[in-house]
Amino acid sequence: MRVRQGAVAASGRLGFLEGIQPPLALGEQEINRVLRDDNRLVEDVSTHLLRGGGKRLRPALILMAGEIWQGPADLLVPVAAAAELIHMATLVHDDTMDRAQLRRGLPTVNAVWGVHVAILTGDYLFAKAFSLLAATGDNRAVRVMADVVFQMCTGEIAQHAQAFDPDQTEAEYLDRIDKKTAYFIAECCRLGGLLSGASAEEQEALRDFGYGIGMGFQIIDDILDLSASAQKLGKPIGSDLRCGVITLPVIHALHHSPQREHIAHLIRTRNLGDKEVEEIRHRVERCGGLHYALRMAERFTEHARRRLDALPSAPAREALREMAAYLVRREY
Ligand code: IPE
Ligand code: IPE
Ligand code: MG
Ligand code: MG
Repeated sequence: MRVRQGAVAASGRLGFLEGIQPPLALGEQEINRVLRDDNRLVEDVSTHLLRGGGKRLRPALILMAGEIWQGPADLLVPVAAAAELIHMATLVHDDTMDRAQLRRGLPTVNAVWGVHVAILTGDYLFAKAFSLLAATGDNRAVRVMADVVFQMCTGEIAQHAQAFDPDQTEAEYLDRIDKKTAYFIAECCRLGGLLSGASAEEQEALRDFGYGIGMGFQIIDDILDLSASAQKLGKPIGSDLRCGVITLPVIHALHHSPQREHIAHLIRTRNLGDKEVEEIRHRVERCGGLHYALRMAERFTEHARRRLDALPSAPAREALREMAAYLVRREY
């Protein structure tokens, strides 16, 4: 299973996605349709982005949550497609800010076409997503997704403000990843229920579930940035430290490593090359930072899974449970 082939959702090789294969395939068609354009450059960039695949986690969650109440496909499918377009837009902008060269196993838009095209492509994708949402005639999805983008920007701004700061706290980190990642995933889960007739309590449970797996998801992403291989991950390794993003394993080391003063000093230089990144990575591992972060991701995920008990018993609910277990075990 390779990232660039659309690992989680598009491959159909994960059993728990079986129940939503038809709407997922329709969502892919919708994304392909929306990204078709008469302009040659736009067409080229879109084709490139579609070749990259991706896990399709957010649309899968919307469709799985909706499936519990057998929600309306004509509403869920475009909303799921719009969520993926928003996600793609944020990745294009994220890579531009980070000057990243690799995404989903392919060169980034900024690497191939430059910063101007990348900024415009991100905006283009946001606009396409919101026009798709508006075309459903359902204002609820538009409002939820506008709020998601707002929260994400707030989280990204906090991340920028805290860059290269070795004194930041674990609470600041957790608040930041909630806003930039977990909130989106939580609202995808809740929206699937909301559009399908879930009660207020059931929507709450879905949101709590999405929050827990979203927090776990970003913590695992941050662990992988320090421990995976770029080839497997399809994006660069050590990128967080190079960009000054201090993640949970590093925060742990900044409190518990015998070398914590030295790590803090390296971070304050604001100039972390391969050698410094490798040194910090080694110190983080030695003092149990990766293990500590993994345990926290598991706790968030376990809590999330328990909240599913508040939902009606259905195969799709069990599929969400399996999805949660899969996400915390993933290696890319
Ligand atoms: C990457 O998201 C950005 C984070 C929030 C960590 P994904 O890991 O869902 O990226 P793709 O869509 O599979 O490429
Ligand atoms: C998620 O975090 C970024 C967004 C919310 C767009 P990362 O910055 O860790 O994402 P990756 O690791 O580049 O995919
Ligand atoms: Mg990034
Ligand atoms: Mg990352």
